[in-house]
Amino acid sequence: MTDAKVTRDLLAAAAAAREHAHAPYSGFRVGAAVRTADGRVFTGCNIENATYGLTLCAERVAVFKAMSEGAREFVQVAVVADTDPLTPPCGACRQILSEFCPRAEIVLSNLAGRVETRRIEELFPSPFHERFFR
Ligand code: THU
Repeated sequence: MTDAKVTRDLLAAAAAAREHAHAPYSGFRVGAAVRTADGRVFTGCNIENATYGLTLCAERVAVFKAMSEGAREFVQVAVVADTDPLTPPCGACRQILSEFCPRAEIVLSNLAGRVETRRIEELFPSPFHERFFR
């Protein structure tokens, strides 16, 4: 269980990242933030593209930004959108979170301050994994 202030700060970072969402096609803005075991925070927002299919979700932007800076151990992932019920990671992001953030607490929130916590095993119980081919 993460300290409440640490969680609030990560949610605030995700909400701030959401402000940078590039979502001219859907109008749906999402922010994400990941916290590493050594306390670093990386953020992401969704970035849409005219092809639609090349759109990247906020969660994947945050995880890939972090990994490209050398981060590997993730303890918390925050996702903020303006929905109720809360927006969970999409299927593609669940695969990524399952592989790269398997132990992270996933905290969902909206702009009204509703907060819920999930585990990736609950959201994505049967992931594809390298053990299938190695
Ligand atoms: N999106 C995210 O960024 N994260 C989610 O968890 C769900 C969906 C984005 C992708 C797209 O830009 C928009 O929301 C609508 O699907």
